Amino acid sequence: MNIIRTVADLKKEVRYFQLDNQSIGFVPTMGFLHEGHLTLAREARKENDVVIMSIFVNPLQFGPNEDFERYPRDEERDMALAKEAGVDILFLPSVEEMYPDEPSVTLTVHKRTNALCGLSRVGHFDGVATVVMKLFHLTEADRAYFGKKDAQQLAVIHGLVDSLNVPIEIVGVDTVREPDGLAKSSRNVYLLPEEREKAPAIYKALQLVAASIEAGETNTGHLKQQARSMLEEQTGAEVDYVEILSYPELTAVDSISGTIIAAAAVKYKNARLIDNVILPMK
Ligand code: PAJ
Repeated sequence: MNIIRTVADLKKEVRYFQLDNQSIGFVPTMGFLHEGHLTLAREARKENDVVIMSIFVNPLQFGPNEDFERYPRDEERDMALAKEAGVDILFLPSVEEMYPDEPSVTLTVHKRTNALCGLSRVGHFDGVATVVMKLFHLTEADRAYFGKKDAQQLAVIHGLVDSLNVPIEIVGVDTVREPDGLAKSSRNVYLLPEEREKAPAIYKALQLVAASIEAGETNTGHLKQQARSMLEEQTGAEVDYVEILSYPELTAVDSISGTIIAAAAVKYKNARLIDNVILPMK
């Protein structure tokens, strides 16, 4: 595995792959890798000649009171895990390398952000879209891999690629979970032991929604109330939101039809966790 820290070196490698007609799969991450990230890398490994993974904690997508400074980092461990997952090039740029000056152009996302995490994380998806667009240009990838765990992000990236005619295929990968159902997340390390014990109830509440829909319930108001009660009673966390929306548009729906997302966010002492299910499951 080749470790690259500069834009110039990455471009050199990419040019070589292009000349050699090799297909490129790209996995953007912020590091502190876990099985979720590694599953994306393995999917990319299956479908492409070359796999590029980036690790970059992107300041543009963090709000002033969010966890940019204390976002977990472990470069040595990430390098070993990426190599094992079959990554060919690990791109680890510094903030100065990605943003040598204040950017004169950034992207603004107009749709799919007025819901879920977009409401509390103002500007977050603008920062995601901007860095992802830069990384798409730098890697010139044929395919890029994103987790359904961050379903709103995946919807925004589909919108970005469609709106700006970006020549790349976006591949959505199912959420990877702990054996007890908790979605894997770099932020899980911040859970206190008693919080970690209760956190699987987030997914349980979403599964309850799925089961109720399966049983014939179509009223989203009832479904949300049911999920909220379970989240409040069993997670031991403050419920940030629980929503049922159309997917990928993320607009309100009164009754269940077409593809929908049931999504929740809860706040523990040191970590805000999100999870979702997209129905019908494919
Ligand atoms: P990060 O949170 O590191 O996630 C990188 C990728 O891993 C995302 O596509 C995310 O959806 C996926 N992922 C995280 N946990 C997962 C899980 N449990 N199962 C499946 N996939 C999972 O998302 C970002 O970084 C950033 O916003 C980024 C896209 C890199 C832009 O800065």
